[in-house]
Amino acid sequence: MSRETLRTEITLHSPEATTALAQRLGTQLAPGDVLLLSGGIGAGKTHFARSLIQSLLEIPEDVPSPTFTLVQEYETTAGPLWHADLYRLGDPLEAVELGLEEAFTSAICLIEWPDRLGDLTPQSAIQMDFSTDPDDEQVRLVTICAPSAKRALFEKVSA
Ligand SMILES: Nc1ncnc2c1ncn2[C@@H]1O[C@H](COP(=O)(O)OP(=O)(O)OP(=O)(O)O)[C@@H](O)[C@H]1O
Ligand SMILES: [Mg+2]
Repeated sequence: MSRETLRTEITLHSPEATTALAQRLGTQLAPGDVLLLSGGIGAGKTHFARSLIQSLLEIPEDVPSPTFTLVQEYETTAGPLWHADLYRLGDPLEAVELGLEEAFTSAICLIEWPDRLGDLTPQSAIQMDFSTDPDDEQVRLVTICAPSAKRALFEKVSA
């Protein structure tokens, strides 16, 4: 199955628009769903992940960037959720040691810097690639690619 069967591009005109997309997607997620959040430094990956996580927390709590811890775990209204920032991951094997491979099936996973996963990248993942509009630093362009098995989820987001 192609990983890029479904594809769309969305323009997010403000941080609030990114938050709204994250909240919309959050209502559709279940354990086993993996979102790969790619894009350069400051592209908005953590802003998106934080908004999504906060929308699924029964009791509000801080959602720090997992820059140094690599992984943060949450209990959400949709089930267990892992938020990872793999920028500092040296080797994909470290991801296995962190328990990420197992989390891909048992939790909702939001993964920043997913290129570090190499061959561990789950084939069923949804890819979201963020970039900053060169003409307006409040604007983000996000390209979403999903396998056809995730069509229902994809359609909720791209609608
Ligand atoms: N439309 C937008 N969507 C998301 N964030 C935006 C937008 N416009 C401006 N921003 C700002 O851009 C910054 C994005 O930072 P963020 O930490 O989310 O980036 P990141 O992609 O996680 O970077 P890193 O690779 O360093 O982890 C935030 O300060 C946010 O307020
Ligand atoms: Mg980040």
